Amino acid sequence: MNDALPHDFDRRAAVYEEHAPVQREAAAWLAEWLAEKIEGPALEVGAGTGLFTCHLVGRTDQLWATDISPRMVRAGHDTLPNAQWSVAHAIHPPTSHAYRWIFSCSLIQWLPDPAAVFRAWHRAAAPGARILCGWFVRGTLAEFFDVCPEAAPFAWRGAAEWRDILQEAGWATERSECRTYTRQHPRAAAMLRALHNAGAVIPRRLGTGRLRQALRQYDRENRGENGVTAHFEFLRLEAVRS
Ligand SMILES: C[S@@+](CC[C@H](N)C(=O)[O-])C[C@H]1O[C@@H](n2cnc3c(N)ncnc32)[C@H](O)[C@@H]1O
Repeated sequence: MNDALPHDFDRRAAVYEEHAPVQREAAAWLAEWLAEKIEGPALEVGAGTGLFTCHLVGRTDQLWATDISPRMVRAGHDTLPNAQWSVAHAIHPPTSHAYRWIFSCSLIQWLPDPAAVFRAWHRAAAPGARILCGWFVRGTLAEFFDVCPEAAPFAWRGAAEWRDILQEAGWATERSECRTYTRQHPRAAAMLRALHNAGAVIPRRLGTGRLRQALRQYDRENRGENGVTAHFEFLRLEAVRS
């Protein structure tokens, strides 16, 4: 894991898509709210390899796709060269345009200071601009974090709390909706490996003994005929710059 980041997306860029079936489905669900044509300059933040970007490129020829990970940006650019790709932290989007739209998918839960990022987007956006974003909220992997709360890489928040943070940063939510995704794995260890391969890591400070004990408990409490279940709670939200 990169010491400066609470995740490992850069190192996992080459295998991310293979291990991100939930993120792919969530991106398609978020894309249902896209207009057929996206007018004006548009920014995508945390674009990764382009699982959501692929829904944008046919609707606009003014798309700036960004990600903090150079390898993700390279992969995205190789697949979707019609967007303008660049490496950027969410809080420092390219400032060459006043964006009419800001998009992100499966990113926001990872931001250490989301309020500051929403304020930065407010500054980077044109009057009347909109954000359309989707991300994982409280309830995600609850089975695992119930048995091992100290493994959570960040504070999970619910939809209402997120809307309040946006409101304070100058974004008025116009619509929002949650959906639950379910995945089966043979055992808890396989569930954790899949997360790891997709770039989500658990903190190193958690010792292996403690982790093994938590995985055994997860198996004991959740294992059925088809293995263990993992739930993911995804919020899609559209807000307007106030
Ligand atoms: C779960 S992936 C989602 C990628 C893509 N949007 C998707 O839907 O598959 C999260 C992405 O956010 C990027 N990311 C994480 N923290 C970031 C930050 N502070 N600024 C910009 N990108 C960030 C990661 O490098 C990674 O590519």
